[in-house]
Amino acid sequence: MCGIVGAIADRDVVPVLVEGLKRLEYRGYDSSGIAIADAAGVRRVRRTGRVAEMEQAAAAEGFRGTLGIGHTRWATHGGVTEANAHPHISHGDLALVHNGIIENHEQQRERLRALGYAFESQTDTEVIAHLIHHHMVQGQAPGTDPGRRLLAALQAAVKELTGAYALAVLSRAAPDRLVCARMGCPLLVGLGEGENFVASDVSAIVQATRRVVFLEEGDTAEIRREGVRVFDAGDREVRREVHVSDVSLASLELGPYRHFMQKEIHEQPRAIADTLEAAIDVGGFEAELFGARAGEVLRGVTGVQILACGTSYYAGLTARYWIEAIAGLPCSVEIASEYRYRDAYADPDHLIVTISQSGETLDTMEALKYAKSLGHRHTLSICNVPESAIPRASGLVCYTRAGAEIGVASTKAFTTQLAALFQLTVVLGKLQGRVAPEREAGYLEQLRRLPGSVQHALNLEPQIAAWAERFAGKHNALFLGRGLHYPIALEGALKLKEISYIHAEAYPAGELKHGPLALVDAAMPVVVIAPNDRLLEKVKSNMQEVRARGGELFVFADQDSNFTQSEGVHVIRTPRHAGVLSPVIHTIPVQLLAYHTALARGTDVDKPRNLAKSVTVE
Ligand code: G6P
Repeated sequence: MCGIVGAIADRDVVPVLVEGLKRLEYRGYDSSGIAIADAAGVRRVRRTGRVAEMEQAAAAEGFRGTLGIGHTRWATHGGVTEANAHPHISHGDLALVHNGIIENHEQQRERLRALGYAFESQTDTEVIAHLIHHHMVQGQAPGTDPGRRLLAALQAAVKELTGAYALAVLSRAAPDRLVCARMGCPLLVGLGEGENFVASDVSAIVQATRRVVFLEEGDTAEIRREGVRVFDAGDREVRREVHVSDVSLASLELGPYRHFMQKEIHEQPRAIADTLEAAIDVGGFEAELFGARAGEVLRGVTGVQILACGTSYYAGLTARYWIEAIAGLPCSVEIASEYRYRDAYADPDHLIVTISQSGETLDTMEALKYAKSLGHRHTLSICNVPESAIPRASGLVCYTRAGAEIGVASTKAFTTQLAALFQLTVVLGKLQGRVAPEREAGYLEQLRRLPGSVQHALNLEPQIAAWAERFAGKHNALFLGRGLHYPIALEGALKLKEISYIHAEAYPAGELKHGPLALVDAAMPVVVIAPNDRLLEKVKSNMQEVRARGGELFVFADQDSNFTQSEGVHVIRTPRHAGVLSPVIHTIPVQLLAYHTALARGTDVDKPRNLAKSVTVE
């Protein structure tokens, strides 16, 4: 869960590395560093804290160079210290940055110690630096080109590693190139004019180039100013397709907003409209929205198993209500990290649906592999990052079109996942013969109206910001919802705890009396999601139970929910009930409540403590 970037050019690459690392901070932000190399040697600067601190240190030391690598870290092995920050150096000659986890690092460390290598850090990464150095020295036949030796040493070293890695390496002995390797963590090569790059994702280098090659599992590459060579896991030179990325610089910049989270909340009408564009353009829900073969695959499906983590898991929980009610198929939803370690029941005709914003969450990826190993034949990925690992490992794919999501707390990715899952539901419903053309037209009309309704919900921001002032001083909060809105209560509680650090729990409102009611007193704000659906009267009774114990209610209702404000009961109304798509609308107020509460508490909204956006470790 770290970000890496590297560059070789005729110009000074330090600004490219620093800017790249700032864009990769979502992957980890506890420390960072860069190393540059030329024939005189390898130099590095590292700092704990944010990239901006390391940038200042680099400027103070007059760091400049035409060949460099950089890293932003989310600590796994070893604490947050400068000694554990990357790049790691071996013998003053070779510097390396790493994303991933090396599982056999202890054995390799023992072996390298016996060979005389001294270790300065507690990381698994330092092992790789010494291992490559060792192979470099071993391969030192007279007359052998040091550049070739560097690549060969990397290729030999990775064959002795187990685990996951994206690596970029430079050496004083070969100052005309970078070498890199990928296994289980994303890595791409950026192709410029007389300069080339390597990075964890395209946002890091988009200011320099949009032409990229996605490395495949087991690939290594040699990157020089004049060109790039890619080798497969068997060290055979291969050609990989060049993609032109459509990530825009504007999507990576804050514009008029204070935080990316705020920007991303406000982008939701556009993000949802883009995700729905294909269905709306063809005027219906066709299986082909999920890939050319999708009709044939989805027709034979007899159930759905959804696997995901975090916010994506809550999107899955919402979809279960839709899939069972509309498509009439059994649907289970499970947290990927649990599913992958249990003896799960597998029906080969049940469709595995993974949901992942990043497409690289390790637990979700492993759950997908496990599902396949259990005999599941059909897999579908709902993902926001093209060419990422999970969609590449899936038979069918639906890309949400949220655009780059930078705030660690997921917002627009969630609502676009809901939009995609709703489309999947209707496609399945049609194939099951449960959605007649008239009903399909009705759903399409509701989807058409969805971006506008989301915009109306966003217009409630000033009222929600006023509530947030009252939340800022609280230590705990309870979120209640029922039916389709229970997952939204869960998502609201998750958002609040992630970014404001207020302890928040969500319960299905009917479960209140079985435990959480014991927590309710005047200090406990209780957020209730109470749209005007068939459970409204039940929710109202649950609210009475809270009021009777002195709890303060903050109710998100619809215009027609028929609530009155009273002592201890605050109500904000979304404009109209959105029927089966109501969970999408009711997500907006809980996102805004979390955002404004965090703002009032002065936390680091986009980079909450201890978290990272892309979780590529267990
Ligand atoms: C992390 C992020 C969450 C996200 C979860 C799953 O915990 O902070 O926002 O929901 O990972 O990520 P994915 O990319 O698989 O949706």
